[in-house]
Amino acid sequence: MHIGVLTGGGDCPGLNAVLRSVVRTAEKEYGSTVVGFRNGWRGLLEDDSMVLDRPLVHNLLTRGGTILGSARVAPQKLRDGLGRMREVLDAHGVDVLVPIGGEGTLTAAAWLSSEGVPVVGVPKTIDNDIDGTDLTFGFDTAVSIATDMIDRLHTTAESHQRVLLVEVMGRHAGWIALNSGLAAGAHLVITPEQPFDIEEICQMVTARFERGHRHVIGVISEGATPLPGTMPMREGGLDEFGHKRFTGVAQQLGDELERRTGKEVRTTVLGHVQRGGTPTSFDRVLATRFGMHATIAAHEGHTGQMVALQGTEIGLIPLADAVARLKTVPPARLAELRAFTG
Ligand code: F6P
Repeated sequence: MHIGVLTGGGDCPGLNAVLRSVVRTAEKEYGSTVVGFRNGWRGLLEDDSMVLDRPLVHNLLTRGGTILGSARVAPQKLRDGLGRMREVLDAHGVDVLVPIGGEGTLTAAAWLSSEGVPVVGVPKTIDNDIDGTDLTFGFDTAVSIATDMIDRLHTTAESHQRVLLVEVMGRHAGWIALNSGLAAGAHLVITPEQPFDIEEICQMVTARFERGHRHVIGVISEGATPLPGTMPMREGGLDEFGHKRFTGVAQQLGDELERRTGKEVRTTVLGHVQRGGTPTSFDRVLATRFGMHATIAAHEGHTGQMVALQGTEIGLIPLADAVARLKTVPPARLAELRAFTG
């Protein structure tokens, strides 16, 4: 059998571990071959590929990023390119395509499957917002990096009796803010699921200093928004795919907080450092298991599916179900923060 593989969307630690796993499982278990398409769907549209074999994936387990390269491709461009993608898959004799990606890539995979192309999806994103899988690889690494950074901010904030706001990634879901905030003992966690109330935050900050505490650490997801009409926010416009651009919500919240409370506020935006470098052991294992089970599913004819972590086991769910909605943080998980914040 010939397996095609691509990595799409924003990269994350563990992608290379999946590639290694797909190649090893395909070659060792089935005697199959693997071809990789470069830069996500673009490689399929432009017939830009490379053979992936065991010598090539040697030493990939710990390497961040993706040796295939990644890119975001506008959905319309993909729809227009269906015929071309079929031609390229046929030319390479690809029996099953394994797209590894987040919401955008998996939505495209579900659509391709509905057009009759055999695909098995692998979920990845540091945001952990793919439905149907308990976790995505990349998330644990991002949370570890963010936690380490927030740990470091406690001491400097305390020395200067400041409020330190840390902006983490998460456009629609606050999983990174939730877990890094809990892990690093943040006093305030703000996620996109629950619009924040600037007045409530000011009261909390003032009350903490009045109680004799020497600092405040707040973790805020990049996609967080204030309650409508409560504070001015600069609009960021849309990117080339029509996605909302983010405008430094932590900085804007920090400016307003400083103005209203008179406390010194500093802001740290973690940005792409959360996606860089070597994956944690947890992410290496999850990525390896995802790659292996996707390859098994491809050989057993379970296409139109996505591999998913279900408890401790790796299962399959229909791609169409996985992309029907984003997995956001449920209210009960946000409520758990109450005992540890403020
Ligand atoms: O979806 C993953 C993610 O890292 C988001 O958390 C973040 O908003 C986005 O990608 C950043 O995308 P880019 O690398 O294109 O700026």
